[in-house]
Amino acid sequence: MNYSKTPGKRGKSGKVVYKVVHGRGKFEIKSLWEKLNAIHRKESVYFKRYFEKLHFRQRMKVLTGKRLRVETAELKGRMIGYCVSSMHRGTGEIESLIVDSKYRGYGVGKRLVSNALRWFKKNHSKKEQLRVVFGHESVLPFYMSQGFFPREIELRKK
Ligand SMILES: CC(C)(COP(=O)(O)OP(=O)(O)OC[C@H]1O[C@@H](n2cnc3c(N)ncnc32)[C@H](O)[C@@H]1OP(=O)(O)O)[C@@H](O)C(=O)NCCC(=O)NCCS
Repeated sequence: MNYSKTPGKRGKSGKVVYKVVHGRGKFEIKSLWEKLNAIHRKESVYFKRYFEKLHFRQRMKVLTGKRLRVETAELKGRMIGYCVSSMHRGTGEIESLIVDSKYRGYGVGKRLVSNALRWFKKNHSKKEQLRVVFGHESVLPFYMSQGFFPREIELRKK
């Protein structure tokens, strides 16, 4: 358990506690993941149906085979954010990240990303990457402030 006095600033009011969760604990992120999926459903330009049909278990299943790290941010025992990251064949990837809307802008997202980056480096990553849903470009300035820049646009056959 890792207490942060100043994750940038304090959370809305109080200490934000960052925890790496194991085993079935990762299923506790489900309700926040659903909020993230709702954002993707709303903002995706060409794949709304995909996000409408996507379920948490399916999303987790896709990650099977990769080494996963799930970190949550809690305030007064309530989960206010999480980051799922993976390591696979030398690539560190931020798979899923959200901070609950009321708690954005307090440095929680930045802290979750920097913790993931530290884990990648510890595991000798050769490359670090993430994907952003086409249509959800509003998040790019955040990622760019953390050192991630757009490189290619992946197209997928529907
Ligand atoms: C993206 C997200 C995780 C950022 O979390 P957060 O806790 O609000 O971010 P932080 O407070 O740590 O912000 C870190 C820095 O990025 C900046 N920032 C945050 N969101 C930003 C945005 N949308 N545009 C520009 N800058 C942004 C902050 O100003 C801050 O800058 P500073 O360090 O110079 O003060 C959060 O906005 C979120 O959950 N968004 C919806 C879900 C989402 O888009 N997830 C990513 C899917 S790919």
